[in-house]
Amino acid sequence: MTNFLYVNPDLYEAVYPDPPHRRGRMCEATFRRYLGRLPRNVLDLGCGTGREIQYLSSLGIACTGVDPSSAMINLARARAQASFHICPMQDLNLDIRFEGLLVLGNVLSHLVHPRDLEYGFEVIRKHAAHGAIVLVGALNYGALLMSSRMSTPSNIEVVDAAGDRLVGETSFCVDIKSQQSIRRRNWRRGDDIVATDRSVHRMLFPEELCHRLRQHGADILDVADNQEFAPSDFNGEEIYVVARF
Ligand SMILES: C[S@@+](CC[C@H](N)C(=O)[O-])C[C@H]1O[C@@H](n2cnc3c(N)ncnc32)[C@H](O)[C@@H]1O
Repeated sequence: MTNFLYVNPDLYEAVYPDPPHRRGRMCEATFRRYLGRLPRNVLDLGCGTGREIQYLSSLGIACTGVDPSSAMINLARARAQASFHICPMQDLNLDIRFEGLLVLGNVLSHLVHPRDLEYGFEVIRKHAAHGAIVLVGALNYGALLMSSRMSTPSNIEVVDAAGDRLVGETSFCVDIKSQQSIRRRNWRRGDDIVATDRSVHRMLFPEELCHRLRQHGADILDVADNQEFAPSDFNGEEIYVVARF
C-alpha cells in the first residue's frame, strides 16, 4: 500500500479539509448524546493528522492517538497535548480502557487481510471500558458502487507548499470476491509523475460493521450516512455507526 497523501499530511488536509472542526464537534455531540457526558478519555484509532484529538483535547479529554504513519503522527503531535503511538491499530496493546473510541475516515478498510480485520475489532473491544461509546466512520461503498464514481477515472488537484499544482489521476478496480477496491493514483506535477499510489481497501458495508461490533460484545445505537444522524436514503458519502460496549 502506498499513499502519497499519508506521507504529506499538509497535502492530505488540503484534499480533505475539515473546517471548523466539524468532525470534532460531531464526536463531541455523539459522546454527549450516547454517553450522557463527555468521556474522560478517548482512543482515536487511525488518528491521521489528529484533528479530532486537537478538538477533543481542547475540551479537557485525555486523548490517545494511533497511526502507522509517522508523518501524520508528527503533525498530530505538533497540534495537541496527547499521547501518540506509531503503529497499525491491529497491533495495539495498551493497558488502558477508554470511555470513547473513534475509528474514523475509513481506517478499518485499511485492514485488508481477514486476520487483521478481526484483530482490529478485537483491539477495539480490548480497549473499551464498560459502557464505552465507539464511533466508526467508513466510506459508503454501497453508494459508491451504485454510482459511476468508481468506474470512471477522475482527477483530484491540490497546490503544494511551493505553490505547484499537483494532479492525482485516479482509477479504481474492484475485486468482488474479496470485497476489495484497488485504487491507482498517479501524482503529476506538470508532465512529471512524482508518485504512484496503489491502495487496497476492504469494502465494508453497514451490516458487516454492525455484525462485527455485535460479535465483539457491543450494542448498536445508531447507523447513518451523515454526520447529523438524520434519517436519509443512505446515499451519503460516509457511513457512521455508533455502538456501546
Ligand atoms: C483517511 S485517513 C483518516 C484519518 C483520520 N481518522 C480522519 O478521519 O481524518 C486514514 C488513516 O488511517 C491510517 N492507517 C492506515 N492503516 C492503518 C492501520 N492498519 N491502523 C491504523 N491506522 C491506519 C493512515 O495512516 C491514515 O492516517
